[in-house]
Formats: sequence, C-alpha cells, structure tokens
Amino acid sequence: MADIGNIVILTGAGVSAESGVRTFRDNGGLWEDHRIEDVATPEGFARDPALVHRFYDARRAALREVTPNAAHKALARLEREWPGQVLLVTQNVDDLHERAGSTNLIHMHGELKSAWCRACDARMKWDEDLGDHPACRACTMAGTLRPDIVWFGEMPYRMDEIYAALAACDRFVSIGTSGAVYPAAGFVRQAREMGAQTLEINMEPSEGSLWFHDARHGAAGELVPAWVDEILATEQRR
Ligand code: APR
Repeated sequence: MADIGNIVILTGAGVSAESGVRTFRDNGGLWEDHRIEDVATPEGFARDPALVHRFYDARRAALREVTPNAAHKALARLEREWPGQVLLVTQNVDDLHERAGSTNLIHMHGELKSAWCRACDARMKWDEDLGDHPACRACTMAGTLRPDIVWFGEMPYRMDEIYAALAACDRFVSIGTSGAVYPAAGFVRQAREMGAQTLEINMEPSEGSLWFHDARHGAAGELVPAWVDEILATEQRR
C-alpha cells in the first residue's frame, strides 16, 4: 500500500463519548430513557410530534455544554496535514467534528443544528427549539419544521458521494461505532473489496470487527491521536 493516499474515516457515537455525549447502544435499547421507535422513526414523529421535538430540542441544547475531545481534534489535524484527501463521514448528529476544525465532512444521519421544512423542502441551520412551532425561514409557514435527522426507515444523506469515496480510498478507518446500523456498517466491506487497507478503532470489537485488516481497542481520545501521529510521522519520513 502506498503511504500517501486518500483516507475515508467513518465515525460514530463513540468518538463523542469522551466529550460527554451519550452513545446509543449502552442502555438496553433506550436513548435517554426513550424507545428508539418513539423518537427515531417517522411513525413516532407522526404519533407524538411534541415528544419528538422535546427530545431533539434537549439534545440540541445539550450541545452547548460539550466541547470537542482529543479524537475530534486529531482528525481535524489529519485533514489539515495529510497530503492526500481525507473525507470524514459521521453518523453523529452533533457538531463536534466541525467545531474541532474538520471541513471535508458528511453528516450521513443529519444534524441537530439543522431543520427541514416539510412544506417547502428547505433545509436551514437551526440552533433554537423546534417544539414551539417556529416559522420556516424559507416559506414562512409555522409548524412545518422537523429535526433534520435521518430516522430509521429513511435514506441516509449523500450516499453516492460516500460510495464513490469508498471506491477511491486507500485507507478506511472506522472509529467509535458499533457496526450495528446499515448502510454504514457495510462500508468496510465496500472499501476492502476495492483494495483499501481497513482499521477499526473502538472501545470493544464492533459487530463487523472481523471485516477489518487491523483493530485497536480502547478509548478514541487516546487511540485516535496516537494513530494520527503515527501516520503523519510515516508520511514525513518519505
Ligand atoms: N472510544 C471509542 N469507542 C467508544 C467509546 C470511546 N470512548 N465509548 C464508546 N465507544 C464505542 C462503543 O463500544 C460502541 O461500540 O462506540 C460504539 C458506539 O456504538 P453506538 O452507540 O451503537 O453508536 P453508533 O454506532 O454511532 O450508532 C449508529 O445508530 O441509532 C442509530 O442513527 C443512530 O447514528 C446512530 C447509528
């Protein structure tokens, strides 16, 4: 494998855990004491929009209390210093990667700080509550905004770009994800079939751990900066 090349990095909830954002699958199938089907499906939203808005309004407000950790910062440094392309694909809906400085970033499951108008289809940056029926900034209708989050049963964003990047990458690294949710859980096989070296960094072996060439298990806040130091040092020796 060439030392310089394109890198695709997939991140999940584990990369934000040390910032104080809770992961999904560590609590008996409950997210902050709610059932997944109640707060993360279009059907749940149709049944009880007020509950779903309260849930995401609280998650959005909680972002003000957290800051990027050493893993987010190391990935931003890698994007700045690596001579090839670095694409970060995150399943996370927090904004910690961008606050750490990453710019080539795809939020495949949407963003807490974005709202989507079901009347005019516009998406807009949003930092306030959605539960009090604010008006859409594009079409001015009230009560039509929903969290811009990809719920179960919905199509993740920018999949064409992601698959093209996986086909063209030399390294694929998965960080802090349980490998339980597709299509993200299948990225390692896509990248590997197209010739990429693959590495997993996670607290424990993920559900797809056997698909990776290499795995490092432990805290992302320690292992990610160490890995970034390592590959940047390899590049500098060339
Ligand atoms: N460092 C590294 N890994 C960690 C850390 C840490 N400090 N803390 C936890 N982890 C690992 C856990 O061991 C677990 O394997 O991160 C993983 C988090 O897994 P999940 O909670 O399942 O989160 P994720 O994989 O991002 O979930 C995927 O599922 O619910 C949907 O849309 C939601 O984007 C989410 C998707």
